[in-house]
Amino acid sequence: LVLILDFGSQYTHLITRCIRALSVFSLCISGTSPLSSITSLNPKVVILSGGPHSVHYNDSPSFAEGFVDWAQSNGVFVLGICYGLQLLVQRLGGEVRVGEKQEYGRMDIEVEKNCGIFGGKKVGDKQVVWMSHGDEAARLPDGFEVVARSQQGAVAAVEDRGRKFYGLQYHPEVTHSPEGMETLRYFLFDVCGVNAGWKMEDVMDEEIEVINNTVAPDDNVICALSGGVDSTVAATLVHKAIGDRLHCVFVDNGLLRYKERERVMETFERDLHLPVTCVDASEQFLSKLKGVVDPEMKRKVIGKEFICIFDAFAHELEQKVGKKPAFLVQGTLYPDVIESCPPPGSGRTHSHTIKSHHNVGGLPKDMKLKLIEPLKLLFKDEVRQLGRILKVPEPFLKRHPFPGPGLAVRVLGDVTEGNALDIVRQVDEIFIQSIKDAGIYDSIWQAFAVFLPVKSVGVQGDQRTHSYVVTLRAVTSQDGMTADWYCFENSFLKEVSQKICNNVRGVNRVTLDITSKPPSTIEWE
Ligand code: XMP
Repeated sequence: LVLILDFGSQYTHLITRCIRALSVFSLCISGTSPLSSITSLNPKVVILSGGPHSVHYNDSPSFAEGFVDWAQSNGVFVLGICYGLQLLVQRLGGEVRVGEKQEYGRMDIEVEKNCGIFGGKKVGDKQVVWMSHGDEAARLPDGFEVVARSQQGAVAAVEDRGRKFYGLQYHPEVTHSPEGMETLRYFLFDVCGVNAGWKMEDVMDEEIEVINNTVAPDDNVICALSGGVDSTVAATLVHKAIGDRLHCVFVDNGLLRYKERERVMETFERDLHLPVTCVDASEQFLSKLKGVVDPEMKRKVIGKEFICIFDAFAHELEQKVGKKPAFLVQGTLYPDVIESCPPPGSGRTHSHTIKSHHNVGGLPKDMKLKLIEPLKLLFKDEVRQLGRILKVPEPFLKRHPFPGPGLAVRVLGDVTEGNALDIVRQVDEIFIQSIKDAGIYDSIWQAFAVFLPVKSVGVQGDQRTHSYVVTLRAVTSQDGMTADWYCFENSFLKEVSQKICNNVRGVNRVTLDITSKPPSTIEWE
């Protein structure tokens, strides 16, 4: 195991990802975790991440007392990255000072020593790396030596081979450090002697074993399928472990996309053989949403209705099998459970930064169900990899994300007004199908249509019309936190706009959303 101690860098997840991409299992925990949390994981290598802090402040985060002695006496390799390097230097008796010149962005470094971390200079004497620091190591602790310097003369890499302590002032985990991945590879395999053997097949087998050891032979497990990748892969995995003691429910809330119910049910039943009950609750949801125009209120109403239906599903199952379901499957992912070190002054405490995420609305607390979260150590692309092994169809794995409240946040205002839902479904279908036909679906994070409760004047077939305006939104993004609008070819836009106005009754104007996030959000509500 390679353990990453997180000190709040925006790149910490990338370190975990890079190491897993080298087929080595890595986990990330808070940098200030107690020593017992570190030792219980028995890591062979510990990486101290970067962070927005300076070691000069009293409240800046640090590793636990006794960490260095424990690492040294157990032969554990330690690599400090950026703030991690500075922390190591300071805690071992060296000196860190505010750098004469700050180093932010692309920087040349020169490797001065034939050292293991650069594969004995195989990586190249000169490299371009990504720096992001104001402080620098001014005096190294005994036993350390400088192995690389920046073009400005600052310490860029250090090592203390005897104690197995290493440090990089730059960020090898970002793509702007082109040799960074190679450097991590040399460090892990040549310096630390780590074995590459972590495979998704093993993750699947281990998870199946855990589920089988957790769920008793007469226990029943329930799962709410949203039609998204995470809950589908989670349910497929649990089904592989315990078979039809898993009971899934898919709720048609009347806010789904064009033919969504038929399409996902076909995948669940025909391709994945999942035991799924489909509940058509569209009337129930839509009657509760009538007159609701506030976006957050829409979310609340939908969440509440979902809980009622899920409760009824669990109750019916109890009647049928004579025993309360004992477990609930959730498709929680690793980024949702990682506890990170918040920047000082952010007002966040560690416990506040642990997100508790529910794929399908908040579930009732009094259900007393124990959770099965088989994906909680995986990143999104690893979930897709697992899905492939579980034979989840490829187009399904690559689907764009769809929000829990569905089309309710894509029809502005009252969703039950006129035929707004129908219109947005048809426009969305034409838009998405055109994107697929143009072969650009996989280059886009999310694309969809939005219904605006606005009418404009048009002329169709020599007649004056007074019809609705729709807008098209397509964005690129890494994680949905920030996004940029996707730049379509003009010819594509011309064709889509024409198709929409010719085929969707009630629409005479098509607009395109050309705003990034921030300042906008991806959804309109
Ligand atoms: P925003 O609109 O906040 O969206 O920029 C970021 C990502 O989150 C999705 N989204 C939601 N997903 N329930 C969900 O399950 C919601 O209430 C919700 N609101 C937004 C959105 O589709 C995008 O992928």
